[in-house]
Amino acid sequence: MSPAPRRDPIPVDCVALCDYERHALARIDPGARAYIEGGGADGITRAANLSAWAAPRLTGRVLTDFAGAHTRITLFGAELPFPILLAPCAWHGLVNPGGEAETALGAGAAGAAMVVSTQAGQRLEDVAGAAHAPLWFQLYFQMRREDTLSLVRRAEAAGYRTLVLTLDAVANGVRNDEARAGFHLPAGLRAANLDGIAQPDVAPRPGESPVFGGMLDSAPVWDDLAWLCAATRLPVLIKGAMHGQDIERALALGVAGIVVSNHGGRVLDTLPPTAEILPRVVAQVAGRVPVLVDGGIRRGTDVLKALALGATAVMVGRPQLHALAVGGAPGVAHMLTILRTELEVAMALTGCRTVADIGPGVFW
Ligand code: FNR
Ligand code: LAC
Repeated sequence: MSPAPRRDPIPVDCVALCDYERHALARIDPGARAYIEGGGADGITRAANLSAWAAPRLTGRVLTDFAGAHTRITLFGAELPFPILLAPCAWHGLVNPGGEAETALGAGAAGAAMVVSTQAGQRLEDVAGAAHAPLWFQLYFQMRREDTLSLVRRAEAAGYRTLVLTLDAVANGVRNDEARAGFHLPAGLRAANLDGIAQPDVAPRPGESPVFGGMLDSAPVWDDLAWLCAATRLPVLIKGAMHGQDIERALALGVAGIVVSNHGGRVLDTLPPTAEILPRVVAQVAGRVPVLVDGGIRRGTDVLKALALGATAVMVGRPQLHALAVGGAPGVAHMLTILRTELEVAMALTGCRTVADIGPGVFW
């Protein structure tokens, strides 16, 4: 049994995602805060993610007939009431003892899909048992194929709808904020899905590189992606690829979707913001599979701009942890509803009746 979730009353001034962030930062302990908020190295990409969505100007439109307007989309055969998902984030138990199951409850209440991390503090089966939300599973390759396959089979059996294979974090970012704060996982929090699965030995060994001789020993290569696509009946999305050649090669192997991401600016610093990466990937993919995007999405206008640049849907990372910290499942549901409502406002004021109407014409 997981401990009881914390569901504090939602402060009355929590009316936007930045309010959840402010309240959360005051509640989360300094080590966990450094882990969650931190960017790689100098945080240049992390900051650019936010400013890049804010910069493009929109064109207001008038006198549109909004009868029958809606935000529904269909993605991998399922209808979603609005195009916003929860991005995979590790260790929800850092901010609320209810952990991932509590987040999943909130997502379900709002009608959003949630991507559950391999590095969840709760077993993927337990999260699925608590959830009414459609769940996707974020996969990190394990050292041995049989261990990766067992995660895949468990996700399939538990009813997860897709696999999101994260590829952009084969080495840890240069996490200076975390190191300065001396962050360590608290006792009682562990990667519950990885019990019994051997992990790379990252302990420093004299004379050996901690990077090339450590984590990268077990990092996946192209053959592994080909193997995965053939091994599962679930759609496989890749998260974090951005180079045209990588995208092309992955599509040839049968990936079903691309998540444009720079991991929230947490890994390689000075990558471009995702608002800049997205149009290039959309052009490369040319409609062959859905393209999703995350990184710095905080307002309905950010969602509108991402869809206008060709994304099928967006995902939010840190805001779900902020909302979970402040108000548990009701906080997560409220945060998602705020963002959805802001998207509807942005659509109303740019003359878009449906998501299909949102295109380059919304920009000034
Ligand atoms: C992440 N992210 C992440 N991604 C992933 O594929 N697997 C994971 O386990 C995690 N863990 C994780 C933990 C925390 C604390 C954060 C903040 C992020 C990255 C995440 O999926 C997403 O790409 C970014 O968070 C999106 O940026 P924003 O919305 O946080 O700005
Ligand atoms: C992170 C890893 C867990 O971003 O993906 O912290």
